[in-house]
Amino acid sequence: QDPRIQGIAASIRVVPDFPKKGIMFQDITTLLLDPKAFKNTVDLFVERYSGKNISVVAGIEARGFIFGPPIALAIGAKFVPLRKPRKLPGEVISEKYVLEYGTDCLEMHVGAIQPCDRALVVDDLVATGGTLRAAMNLLERAGAEVVECACVIELPELKGRERLNGKPLYVLMESR
Ligand code: PRP
Ligand code: MG
Repeated sequence: QDPRIQGIAASIRVVPDFPKKGIMFQDITTLLLDPKAFKNTVDLFVERYSGKNISVVAGIEARGFIFGPPIALAIGAKFVPLRKPRKLPGEVISEKYVLEYGTDCLEMHVGAIQPCDRALVVDDLVATGGTLRAAMNLLERAGAEVVECACVIELPELKGRERLNGKPLYVLMESR
């Protein structure tokens, strides 16, 4: 394992019973307060994806908007925001996904993606995988090839990886 990962893991605050009882919330705001940990996080992804012909980084609102843009800039890809409903002003395509209680939805601007695009999906954390699955569906519906999904943290007990239809998922660390 890369020696930088330990410092990144140590910078993430775990908040028990947030936002509700039984949830161990992985708070990446403390990672952002540690410039070395933040830089190492971005660098690890940039090292992995440089030279892989990725033309678009798709970041998932909200926390995918923190890690996605610096990766996109460093690898020379465009950045496309995948947003919660009714935030984007242009024509959109939408994907609903299931949460523990109810459903949520991600939207993407029509025209942001060309059929020849090779996409990397970026978010902070994968839990059930529903959010990443919705993001992949949007990109594939627009004709892009999803090369990989990348997250800082995986909660392996929730088996989100199994919901990605065999698409590769790269994470820096697992958490329980
Ligand atoms: C969290 C997290 C991921 C998603 C993972 O986002 O940032 O995007 O949940 O869950 P899943 O794998 O079970 O789909 P959340 O929707 O809480 O909102 P935020 O990023 O806007 O804070
Ligand atoms: Mg999120």
